Amino acid sequence: MTSILKSDFPILQKKIRDENITYLDTASSSQKPLAVINSISDFYLNSYENVHRGMNSLSIDATEAFEGTRETVRKFINAKSSNEIIFTKNATEGCNIIANAFSSILKEGDEIITTELEHHSNFLPWQSLSKKNNLNLKIISLNKKGIISEEDIINAITDKTKLVAISQMSNVTGQIFDIKNIKKKSNSKALFFIDGCQSIAHMKVDVHDLDCDFFVFSSHKLYGPSGIGVLYGKESILNNLPAVVLGGGMITNVELDDFTPALLPNKFEAGTPPIEATVGLSTAINYLKDKDFYSFFDYEIKLRTILIEELKILGNIDIYGNDEYTPASSIVSFNVHGKNHNDIATFLDQYGVMIRSGHHCCQPFMKKINIPGSCRVSFGIYNSEEDIEIFLKSLKKTIKLLS
Ligand SMILES: Cc1ncc(COP(=O)(O)O)c(C=O)c1O
Repeated sequence: MTSILKSDFPILQKKIRDENITYLDTASSSQKPLAVINSISDFYLNSYENVHRGMNSLSIDATEAFEGTRETVRKFINAKSSNEIIFTKNATEGCNIIANAFSSILKEGDEIITTELEHHSNFLPWQSLSKKNNLNLKIISLNKKGIISEEDIINAITDKTKLVAISQMSNVTGQIFDIKNIKKKSNSKALFFIDGCQSIAHMKVDVHDLDCDFFVFSSHKLYGPSGIGVLYGKESILNNLPAVVLGGGMITNVELDDFTPALLPNKFEAGTPPIEATVGLSTAINYLKDKDFYSFFDYEIKLRTILIEELKILGNIDIYGNDEYTPASSIVSFNVHGKNHNDIATFLDQYGVMIRSGHHCCQPFMKKINIPGSCRVSFGIYNSEEDIEIFLKSLKKTIKLLS
């Protein structure tokens, strides 16, 4: 049966080389429902102007829409205050802002904990900061199956740990981390920086309940437009961090030899923001709420389980980061024995089946498992068991052709 939501996504109605599109690359970026596309075009047609400070009607309307999105996001992730919602261009920028802001705070010997499973966006900023400030970057190792043990993270946290930078859900394997449990069991004063790029689209995120200090995600993985991300930070912490991107819109006073930064959230939002993208993000969140988004989460886990079972039946396939004890959702990474991952993805595309192949911005994972890359299938709210059937049929033909 086709997903009831598929018809809301115009691009998925298209054919490429006479083949229907079977989109299995949502972990990379999600497709956009018509409501989101229309809201952006409507905004440009009727309300566009730059935001903040403008005295004219269009600027007032645009500012209202822009700040309205901040409130929509605040409610969506249950932050206490809209001052805690910083708009960035993507999650990567959010990671970099916080790492750079901590550059003047963390000192030699302080520890940062991260893992071998992190996306480069939540790895390189901490690696670079650690080198610059002589910090001790503790990197939790993957086991042979490609799984990170939560116990290992908890046990690595010491009195010297100032920051734990981990994702809530892996973009390589779909592994889900119980952040609340890790934080509680570690009983530490360390700040928790959570990369929520994948989790935001597959599980209910409540930053208050998680008690994390920072949480980042990108709109484009949440059925919204690209060009906008969200950096959540606890107000009390953000207030004490320096602004790291300087320019228009982030000051209250400028002298020839100094400046006074604006209050939150503007302090971290220098320059003209992606105004129309905030409108699209707001529409995406409202669309998801309207469609009872959270009710799809169990189904996405079921799709992952079905696909893994089918791949096991097919045989000669290595599946990474999978075991029955580790919670995971919607992502399956694998290799077919003796076949190149990029060849598989290229051949699948001939049947309209779109997956991802490569290192998935996680080279430490690939190096640890000793593979150059993998095929990755990932599900979204428009996928169904029918997509798995098409994928498997096409994979079998691909393997035959490559033999
Ligand atoms: C877990 C994770 N973190 C960070 C990112 C970076 O997201 P963006 O490129 O939107 O900044 C991604 C994107 O694939 C991701 O999956």
